[in-house]
Amino acid sequence: MIIVLELFLQFGLLLVLLGLCLWLGDKVFLVVEHLIYHLIYQSTWPRKLIWKFFYNSFSWYLKNENYFRSHNCGYAILTQTGETLKLVAKQDIKNQYQNQMYHYAALGIRNLDDLQGKNVLDLATGRGGGLAFLAKYFYPKNAVGIDISSHQIQFAQSHQDEIDSLSYFQGDVECLNAVNFDKDIQYDLITCIESLHCFSNLSAIFNGVQNLMQKNGNFVIVDIFEKKEVKNIEKIMKHFFMIEKREIITINVKHAMNLDKPRVEKMISKFITDNEIAKQVMRNILASAEGSKTYEELGKTKEYICYVLRHPNPAIDATHQCQSPNEKNMRRYQEQMALHSYQNDPQNQQQSM
Ligand SMILES: *[C@@H]1O[C@H](CO)[C@@H](O)[C@H](O)[C@H]1NC(C)=O
Repeated sequence: MIIVLELFLQFGLLLVLLGLCLWLGDKVFLVVEHLIYHLIYQSTWPRKLIWKFFYNSFSWYLKNENYFRSHNCGYAILTQTGETLKLVAKQDIKNQYQNQMYHYAALGIRNLDDLQGKNVLDLATGRGGGLAFLAKYFYPKNAVGIDISSHQIQFAQSHQDEIDSLSYFQGDVECLNAVNFDKDIQYDLITCIESLHCFSNLSAIFNGVQNLMQKNGNFVIVDIFEKKEVKNIEKIMKHFFMIEKREIITINVKHAMNLDKPRVEKMISKFITDNEIAKQVMRNILASAEGSKTYEELGKTKEYICYVLRHPNPAIDATHQCQSPNEKNMRRYQEQMALHSYQNDPQNQQQSM
């Protein structure tokens, strides 16, 4: 019954909005755009339903895109190629910047080289490729991914590449208690990559994370934040955690989007032959550089931010720990990362083409 209602709401809502747009033209389009914007970024429960529907459709639509395994805007250092990692396997290169984002969030920002023996939990893991990448090259003990979209989880599970540490589960990150995964483990690293904006009740997520995170563990969030909402969100964060590090990486993300544009355009052309409007919609959905709403807004009304959170330590005043973006740190990270290379990995050699 609830599922029927949910489907009805999801389909009904979108169809009505789409119908209105086509029927009434431009001005209504703007109003509808605002309404959609409100529903997907500011509403409470409709937001989650819409994102779930969206990602289910998205994954169904791209179900055969084997190389499209990770969906985030990407991370690049400010060099010509933007590479922080020398990747060799074709499948890894296809998602170069998305993998780099995962690497940056899990290791780079924390100045770590590997995840050996660590338990990693990825919230809203999407198509699973980012977590799989970490599991493949940085050897965590367990790498668990959770996503609300069953289609995405199916995709992730069918592209696991026989990595033993890796497992994916369908479920709602706002109710981690109800999700069927190993909750006896204390996780050393919990990540939430470009998906916090899909959720309305941050307290529910933070509460769940608090219970699952190891004493010295880190909760790393990277996402696009509305500038005017940052203060509010940080206030909620500080209610549960201490902000150990904060870096604004908007320029790195925009650089990655630019470098990634040929791939995204190729993918769009493959699916949509000549309809300009449909192409534009896809550009927005895939956050293509130049021409997508996300790209235009980044740096103006929105920033791309990485937070490293940890359990609060009552002995230390949390307010003193909040670091603003630090150029020296960033440079050190960039130098360090340039040394990274997977070229000698035999598994990689085999797969490269
Ligand atoms: C959000 O989650 C918290 C913690 O689980 C809960 O106490 C609160 O009632 C929730 N808020 C809403 C609006 O659902």
